[in-house]
Amino acid sequence: MSRNNSTINHQPSTISFSHFRADFPILSREVYGQPLVYFDNGATTQKPTCVLETIQRFHNEINANIHRGVHKLSEESTREYENAREVVRSFLNAQKTSEIIFTSGTTASINLVAYSFGEVFVHQGDEVLITEMEHHSNIVPWQLLCERKGATLKVLPFDDNGELMLEKLPELLTLRTRIVAVTQVSNTLGTVNPVREIVRLAHSQNIPVLVDGAQGVKHGIVDVQQLDADFYVFSGHKIYGPTGIGVLYGKEEWLDRMVPWQGGGDMIATVSFRKTTFNELPFKFEAGTANYIGAAGLATALNYYSNIGIDAATAYEDELLRYATQKLTQIEGLKIFGTARSKAAIISFLLENIHPYDTGMILDKMGIAVRTGNHCTQPVIDHFGIDGTVRASLAFYNTFDEVDRLVEALLKVKEMFR
Ligand code: ALA
Repeated sequence: MSRNNSTINHQPSTISFSHFRADFPILSREVYGQPLVYFDNGATTQKPTCVLETIQRFHNEINANIHRGVHKLSEESTREYENAREVVRSFLNAQKTSEIIFTSGTTASINLVAYSFGEVFVHQGDEVLITEMEHHSNIVPWQLLCERKGATLKVLPFDDNGELMLEKLPELLTLRTRIVAVTQVSNTLGTVNPVREIVRLAHSQNIPVLVDGAQGVKHGIVDVQQLDADFYVFSGHKIYGPTGIGVLYGKEEWLDRMVPWQGGGDMIATVSFRKTTFNELPFKFEAGTANYIGAAGLATALNYYSNIGIDAATAYEDELLRYATQKLTQIEGLKIFGTARSKAAIISFLLENIHPYDTGMILDKMGIAVRTGNHCTQPVIDHFGIDGTVRASLAFYNTFDEVDRLVEALLKVKEMFR
């Protein structure tokens, strides 16, 4: 299918990432007899062969529990796991590997901070500040904490373009604010938030900030020292790595003072029925058998993404976003939710008054995978007074031709409902 630019001002990219598609076996499958168009990268990204090979090699050649054996396999397994930690440290430009904690994903990382930080630093009458555009994982753990402690959850709103109302931040940061938690990129609206500025404002009042990088981690290079966030969290599966592995980066000064989250093996130094003492960082927060194979897979994914060029991939995705936005807005009756000035390649929309599930199901029959519904952000959906949206979330392996296929398919959906 060729691109028809007759009505499009945007000049398509000269950069091409299509040769990387061959690295992702799933992208060559068909769905209902049509080549798959995978536009659900916000929910999870696909995995390149090198990640799948790491997982298989680990199982075939190395597998043994980490930090627990004197035998060769356990040593190799442990080495791979700790190497993976170093890869993550370098990827985020953290100062120390002791600041990198492996978790099962973003949700676990936020729950860890909400509990372990909250136990020590949040008390009755205190406040926790989040934003209106958080996904449920960055709302509910804080709500549970506030209920447990008698604290108040405060919310920084966004405007109808999907931009945070930053002018309201100074009045929301009070002497009782104990932590701010904010998403780097909205998974529903695509907004890229000014997290560096939010960190700066919060720090001017000595308030720590957790940045949720679930969507942001693949949007440009992340440098936690430059960002200066106190906590940064992300999931492996949203950055071309395996599911069930994620990261909590935390500044040592906070992690050291926080209580353990879960109890079990590996997080302890000594155990007796009288008293248990805890392991040093980062192990203090890694109870039980870690997902060491997931960690190795994540390390491969981060190396892969770094090698293809994160900034170039982001620039290409930005071009795809501009192209898709221009083409979609030309469809009469299509409304985009989330029109911030700074956006990542996520487009939420509704087509006329067609229910998003209907649109999504028909697109699926044409081989196009999008997400429909509230995207785990019910407050965002409520803001607009709608039931949900259709969401196309793009990755560097998507193409301009795939955007064209989406547009053609949406025109057919419109036709069917005429
Ligand atoms: N938070 C994930 C999404 O945006 C699941 O789809």
